[in-house]
Amino acid sequence: MPSFGENELSRRDVMAGATACAALAAVPARAEGRPESAGPDQPVLAKVSLTVNGQRRELEIDTRTSLLDAAREHLHLTGSKKGCDHGQCGACTMIVDGRRINSCLTLAVMHQGSEITTIEGLGQPDALHPMQAAFIKHDGYQCGYCTPGQICSGVAVLAEIKAGIPSHVTADLNAPMQVTDAEIRERMSGNICRCGAYSNIVEAMTEVAGRPA
Ligand code: FES
Ligand code: FES
Repeated sequence: MPSFGENELSRRDVMAGATACAALAAVPARAEGRPESAGPDQPVLAKVSLTVNGQRRELEIDTRTSLLDAAREHLHLTGSKKGCDHGQCGACTMIVDGRRINSCLTLAVMHQGSEITTIEGLGQPDALHPMQAAFIKHDGYQCGYCTPGQICSGVAVLAEIKAGIPSHVTADLNAPMQVTDAEIRERMSGNICRCGAYSNIVEAMTEVAGRPA
């Protein structure tokens, strides 16, 4: 039979062990690549090289920086807008390696070597991209907040259709792809416009596609 003293020692051992476990659990796991000396709230910096609007840009940024924040806060390209920061509005749409993406939902460090086009790279006031000119002609905006994303998306959508990439509303996968209102509306459905300029945006895109609006 264990004595009272032995029991006491054993209980102390158990308590000490439990305390050590609790203390270990409270220490956050070290992030991959985080220096031993860095605390959990200290940023981990990484270098990334991007080609933005035809220019090579080198950044050293917090690995948690979204592509949208990298453009707006570090490169001072504020044309891309932050509407929701949750991938729900499309205001932050950029063209990355030929595909449109919500730049708020992707980390800048994931795009090492990527070719990125923002609204500033599509055209300038004295040399507008045809999609920008068509938006002006057809009044495809009101407040303009969603417009950079709409235009980047619109350019990419027409390229998708031209490349024969089907959408959810494509009826015949074997027929040549047509730029119909239904195709435009379906493909642009991730770009929200609170001002409701949708019908004018469809007209603008239709004109750029070469179909009578
Ligand atoms: Fe990116 Fe809304 S800000 S989808
Ligand atoms: Fe105002 Fe689209 S023009 S949100």
